[in-house]
Amino acid sequence: MELKKNISLKPYNTFGIDVNAERFIEISGIDELKSLISNGLLQQTKFIILGGGSNVLFTRDFEGLVVKNNIAGINVDKADHGMVRVTAGAGIVWSELVDFCIENNYGGIENLSLIPGSVGAAPIQNIGAYGVELKDIFHTLTALEVATGEARVFTKEECRFAYRDSVFKRELKGKYIIVSVSLALQENPVPDTNYGAIKDELRNMGVDETPGIQSVGEAVISIRRRKLPDPEEIGNAGSFFKNPVVSMEHFKEIQGKYPDMPFYEVDAEHIKIPAGWMIEQCGWKGKSFGDAGVHESQALVLVNHGKATGQEIIKLAMNIMTSVSETFAVELEMEVNVI
Ligand code: FAD
Ligand code: EPU
Repeated sequence: MELKKNISLKPYNTFGIDVNAERFIEISGIDELKSLISNGLLQQTKFIILGGGSNVLFTRDFEGLVVKNNIAGINVDKADHGMVRVTAGAGIVWSELVDFCIENNYGGIENLSLIPGSVGAAPIQNIGAYGVELKDIFHTLTALEVATGEARVFTKEECRFAYRDSVFKRELKGKYIIVSVSLALQENPVPDTNYGAIKDELRNMGVDETPGIQSVGEAVISIRRRKLPDPEEIGNAGSFFKNPVVSMEHFKEIQGKYPDMPFYEVDAEHIKIPAGWMIEQCGWKGKSFGDAGVHESQALVLVNHGKATGQEIIKLAMNIMTSVSETFAVELEMEVNVI
């Protein structure tokens, strides 16, 4: 473990924001993490644990310690009832874990193909895409308590997963570092192709009525490549805001004015409205202010065209929130972790 000082975080966040970390360390094993805790370093210093940096926005230099998590390893255990338990180190790249599972025909994870970032961050916001969320395949996770260094196993219930949310974004924020995640996957998978876009994509690919998980993974990857900007080409952190959930009454009011508005029913009383649609209606899509902008084909994604600062991105985000609030009386909530 080498403690570096005053280094640029630009290569460590997908927004490509150029701020400095006062101190920076990479860890490749649980023992290294334990020693940072037993030396009192994490308890005495302001710190942040970073995986792929694909869901963070740095707004200023980080006056503290950045811990880049590279904890590796993938283990497979056969479980009962046709299930396989796959446990991965928190520093494994999420999409590499997905590829590993698809190659071995362990099913349930394929709809989550190509989501950037690390395994350890996946539970933080209960990553989700194309009709599947992490919680649907989650078994348990192991995390070290920052205060004591003790390992604790969290069950699904204890993680309190919800849409882009978990206990680690709430009461336990900053209190635990996830070191591994266990998934419960199907040994003889039946893929979930209920999501309309996947069905259409499979049809375009000429795949028959009973696709394997490999084909579903490929369909998801091809939809994502078309819809979302590649952070290698243009800085971004995926959806900047969550899709808001409104009451049925409020939804009916908006729908009265905008009959073509897309929406998803959450339950009998609540409707989820795509924030990207609202942002587009407010005229923000494709707009740029210096290097901070709104993506030209997906208004939910804020982008850095080159040298935008985190402050400029936040200013744009705030202006969008005000405009959506004034137009629809809906308050958007940021999905990205602002630091
Ligand atoms: P980071 O950005 O490094 O960290 C995110 C947060 O988690 C930080 O607060 C960090 O401190 C904390 N954290 C990280 N690792 C740990 C750990 N081991 N223990 C405790 N806390 C930790 N998300 C979706 O849900 N669905 C999508 O479809 C999706 N698409 C995306 C598309 C693009 C192009 C991009 C850039 C992002 C997308 N995202 C999506 C967001 C992102 O991929 C996920 O949030 C991902 O889980 C972030 O992983 P990371 O390792 O990069 O996290
Ligand atoms: N839309 C517009 N204009 C836009 C963008 C979207 O009108 O500029 C409309 C689309 O036409 C569609 C609807 O909004 O009717 C939803 O759009 P899309 O299918 O692109 O999905 P999203 O709601 O924008 C969510 C997730 C994504 C996830 C996809 C697929 C959130 C905040 N975002 O996006 O997750 O990949 O669905 O499941 O829930 C992320 O979290 O970073 C992320 C990318």
